[in-house]
Amino acid sequence: MNLTWERAHMPSGTEEILNKRTLSSSHRRLNELLQPGMRVLDIGCGTGAITKGIFEATHPGIAVGLDIDVGLIRQAHDSYAHGPCYVVADLYRVPFTRKFDLTSAARVLQWLSDPGRAIECCISATKPGGRFLALDYNHEKIAWEPCPPSSMMLFYKAFLAWRSDAGMDNAIADRLASEFGRLGLIDIRVTEQHERSDSLHANDKSRLAIWSSVAATRGHQMVKDGYLTELQRITAEQDFRDWTDSTAVTQTIYLLAVEGRVPG
Ligand SMILES: C[S@@+](CC[C@H](N)C(=O)[O-])C[C@H]1O[C@@H](n2cnc3c(N)ncnc32)[C@H](O)[C@@H]1O
Repeated sequence: MNLTWERAHMPSGTEEILNKRTLSSSHRRLNELLQPGMRVLDIGCGTGAITKGIFEATHPGIAVGLDIDVGLIRQAHDSYAHGPCYVVADLYRVPFTRKFDLTSAARVLQWLSDPGRAIECCISATKPGGRFLALDYNHEKIAWEPCPPSSMMLFYKAFLAWRSDAGMDNAIADRLASEFGRLGLIDIRVTEQHERSDSLHANDKSRLAIWSSVAATRGHQMVKDGYLTELQRITAEQDFRDWTDSTAVTQTIYLLAVEGRVPG
């Protein structure tokens, strides 16, 4: 297991974050593009929460969820057995060639050390004339109002270093469009899909608390890897939870949907 994959692996507890997502709430651009009858590949589908929405929107087409993590694919099967097909595979060895009208990779490329090669693999699964759509973050552009507690700022700085030291690109969202052009995609379009949570909206409360959940899950890997002490991790988790309950006004996570067409 290489260092990047070791860090990208979704630790126990992160399924909860994935399961709260839906196609309409968590991937607006993909939702707009889907039509009945389409064949769609959802690369890095995790627990299949978004894949289920893809299946419903494209029925009677084909929806395939692909992930390298056997445990997550098992959960996807158990939760949404009647609908999408699921495949356990490494996206660098995607087992499809020119098969899909649309290939999607949502919040996946950020976890890879060679996103260019990964994009090429996603393109190879897509039919000529079809689309590749990536959704990803620029973690350097997160915005909080007001500033969170210093314990979380320390945690977040350590999170960025822990990722970039493993070869992951913290600013990948802003590099996707030029990478798509370099790899020969055409009709490239960028859609802002920033996730803004507002403490005044009751439904946003759990989204606001996401960095507490990250500290409670991925934080353990960061401690094990020597980027934080356990005391720093738990202090960040608790302080940020208190901050979201009492002080937070808004949080805006920078997220872009970037699409391009495979020349026909
Ligand atoms: C943050 S989750 C995103 C899940 C879902 N797409 C979403 O938007 O909620 C990233 C997923 O990418 C998967 N992944 C990471 N590296 C992969 C690889 N090399 N091949 C296939 N899947 C991979 C992980 O197992 C994980 O399920």
